Amino acid sequence: MKISLVTSIPKSQSLILFAFEKEKAPCALPKQAPLIQQAASEGFKAKECSGAILHPKSGSPAKQVILVGLGDKSKLTGEKLRRAAAAAIKKAQSFSQKSVSLLLPGTLDVQKESQIISEGCLLAGYRFDKYKSPDRDEVLIKNVDLIAPQKVLNEARKGIRFGQILSDATTFVRDMVNEPPSNLPPSKIGEIAKEIADRGESVGITVKVFDKSQIEEMRMGALLGVNRGSAEPPVFIHLHYRPQQAKPGEKLKSIALVGKGITFDSGGLSLKPAQSMETMKMDMAGAASILGVFKAIPQIKPKIEIHGILAVTENMPGGRAYKPGDVLQAMNGKSIEVLNTDAEGRLVLSDALAYAVKQNPDAIVDLATLTGACIVALGSLVAGAMGNDDDLFKAIQKASEESGEKFWQMPLVEEYRDGLKSPIADIKNISSVRGEAGSLIGGLFLKEFVGGKPWLHLDIAGPAWSDKEFHYLSHGGTGFPTRTLIHYLINQ
Ligand code: BES
Ligand code: ZN
Ligand code: ZN
Repeated sequence: MKISLVTSIPKSQSLILFAFEKEKAPCALPKQAPLIQQAASEGFKAKECSGAILHPKSGSPAKQVILVGLGDKSKLTGEKLRRAAAAAIKKAQSFSQKSVSLLLPGTLDVQKESQIISEGCLLAGYRFDKYKSPDRDEVLIKNVDLIAPQKVLNEARKGIRFGQILSDATTFVRDMVNEPPSNLPPSKIGEIAKEIADRGESVGITVKVFDKSQIEEMRMGALLGVNRGSAEPPVFIHLHYRPQQAKPGEKLKSIALVGKGITFDSGGLSLKPAQSMETMKMDMAGAASILGVFKAIPQIKPKIEIHGILAVTENMPGGRAYKPGDVLQAMNGKSIEVLNTDAEGRLVLSDALAYAVKQNPDAIVDLATLTGACIVALGSLVAGAMGNDDDLFKAIQKASEESGEKFWQMPLVEEYRDGLKSPIADIKNISSVRGEAGSLIGGLFLKEFVGGKPWLHLDIAGPAWSDKEFHYLSHGGTGFPTRTLIHYLINQ
C-alpha cells in the first residue's frame, strides 16, 4: 500500500471522510451537511469506528463516500483516529477498491494527523500471505491519497514519512513473528541482524553475531543450557548504533535494548501441552522488535547510542536437553538451579542482561514474552512493566501515549524474592510459592542480573500476539512494542 499526498479531491475514487457524533457536517467539509443527513437516515451516528457507505446523487465531492465515525469530539485521541483510519481501509477493502482518497479531518496538528492516519491505513492493510495460494477474488488497496490543503503539504509529507517508518518497522517485526518456526532458526535471525547492520553501516550501525563456540568462550551457561535440547545452534547478537556525527570519545547517553529470542518454546522437558505450543513461534517477539528498531534507525537517526542485545535459541526437549534439577552458570558467575525448563526466557535473559551491563549503558530496557501470568493479569492488549527506575517507566509511558500501545506498571515486591532461594545455587528459576505473582517473580529474577543499573522489564507475552483481527491488528504477530520504542528513542 502506498500513501500519497494530493491537494484536491479526486472525483473518480471513493472518498473517505471522518465525522464526529452530533456534528452537522463531515470533518473539514462544513458545506456537506447533506452527506451526514443521508447517513443519519440510514442509522449512522458517527460512533467510534462506525462506518456508512454513501452514493450521493448530486453536489457531492465524490461518487462514493465512506463516512467513518470518530465519536465524541471532546474525547478524540490519536489512537481513536488510528483505529478509525483502519476501519476506513477495511470498509473500502470490503468494497474491492484498489485506490481510495482520504480527506484529512483537521482535528489534530497536520503532521501528527497524517502520521497517525498513515499508520492506521498501513497497519490495517498488512497481510501475511506468503504461504497462501493467491486469492483471485481478493482486491487489496494499493493507493491511498491523503488530501491536504496546499499550505500544509510539508507538514503532511513529514507525517506520512514518519508513519511509513513506524509501520515498516512494525510489519517487519510482524513478518518475523509470523514466520513458521522451522523457517526462522537462530542462525537466520543472525543473518537478518547482519543485513540490517549492513544497510545501516553509513549511519553508524555495527553488529557482532556470536556463534556457539564464541558463546561458550563468553561463558553464557544459561543460554547454552536452554539450547542443549535443540538441534539448532544458538546465536547471541550485539547490534550497536553510535551516531555517525558523534566525535570520537564523546560521551553520549546510551541505552541497551535486550530481547528474548526463543524461536520456538516447546517448554523443553517441562513440556508445554499441545495447545499452549500452538503460538510459541512468537517467543522471539522481544528480539524481533529490537531488529525492527534497528531497521528504522537509518531513517530516524536518534541522537543517542543504542545497543541491541539478543539471546536467540530454541527451547527443545532433545536427548541432550537441560533437565529440572540442573544448575547453570550465567556469564556474571551466578549459579541458577533450573526447576522448570519452561521458565527459559529469564535464563537466556540472565546472560543477555549481564552482557548488557558490561557495555555500561545509562539504562537497560528488556523486552520479553516472559510469562503466561502477565496475560492473566493484563490481557492481550497491555504489557507489564517492572523495574528499578521510575523515570525510565515514565519515558516509556510518554512514548506509549504517542504509539497507542499500552503498558501497566507492576511492583517488584521484595518479599517475593524469598521464593527464589535455592538450597544448592544462588537462585532458582521458579518460585517455591506456585501460582502467585508469576510476572513479578520473572521480574525479580531478572533484577538479579542488571547490576543495579537503571532498568525496565517489559513483559509483552500478551500484546505481542493477537488471536484475532482487531482494529489495525491482524491475527498473529502485532509488532508490539516497536512503535513505542522508536518514539522513546527519538524523545531522548
Ligand atoms: N514463553 C512463555 C510465556 C508465554 C506464555 C508467552 C504464553 C506467551 C504466551 C514462557 O517461556 C513460559 O513458558 N513461562 C512459564 C513460566 C513458568 C514456568 C514459571 C509460564 O508462563 O507458564
Ligand atoms: Zn517457556
Ligand atoms: Zn518462553
